[in-house]
Amino acid sequence: MPEEAKEVWKQVDQYFVDALIAPSERFDFALEVNRKAELPAIDVTSLQGKFLEVLVRGTSSKRILEIGTLGGYSTLWLARAIPDDGIVMTLELEPHHAQIAKQNLEAAGFADRIDLRIGPAADTLAALVKEHAAAFDFIFIDADKASYPEYLQWCLKLSRPGTLIFADNVVRDGKVIDGGHRDPNIQGVRRFTEMVSAEPRLSATALQTVAGKGYDGFIIAVVLH
Ligand code: SAH
Ligand code: DHB
Ligand code: MG
Repeated sequence: MPEEAKEVWKQVDQYFVDALIAPSERFDFALEVNRKAELPAIDVTSLQGKFLEVLVRGTSSKRILEIGTLGGYSTLWLARAIPDDGIVMTLELEPHHAQIAKQNLEAAGFADRIDLRIGPAADTLAALVKEHAAAFDFIFIDADKASYPEYLQWCLKLSRPGTLIFADNVVRDGKVIDGGHRDPNIQGVRRFTEMVSAEPRLSATALQTVAGKGYDGFIIAVVLH
């Protein structure tokens, strides 16, 4: 991507952040904590986090599932969007990431609406299905891209008609269109896309995004029946 384009994307992001997200609601403190803890800076942007908040509020979602917590930055936006009796269940493989996330979520006063589960997400999802967990209203898939196909299968079992399934990072700088790409993450998002396409219970679309962090995009699907 040309550097000039990236610079414009960054400035436009900043323009809308300043216009639409008050400094007091930005959760910047968590990004600072994450940086100091040397977590990878692959959190959603603040505008994307707010987009999740708007979707969750707009659907009156109360039971949220997040796959891939990192330092809890996206989790903060999801947690803010639900009522006091709502819950964000968030799944994270790395104990260190989870520990930082816990700290950030507690600092924001959201501890009592978070259920953070440490371990491979596929195992936690299998356990949830086994114990007949109640359906989630909104699902945010954002962990290892190679496992998106597997996560989709579990998520369908944890959904009800009307559940929204949001899968982050499916464009990857445009690499998604390269069917011969060796990266298992690219293969994962391609396979995920094929599965969504073939699944009669889902109606879906994809949107490309540009942002301060670069060129990517997401798939959003609604469970029909
Ligand atoms: N949602 C976060 C970013 C998540 S980054 C935000 O926007 O703020 C992806 C996270 O998925 C990383 O923390 C990584 O450790 C975690 N992850 C990778 N493989 C995983 C797995 N198999 N199960 C659960 N989490 C996993
Ligand atoms: C990566 C993961 C993410 O969830 C993201 O938003 C951006 C990048 C990555 O693994 O590179
Ligand atoms: Mg992501």
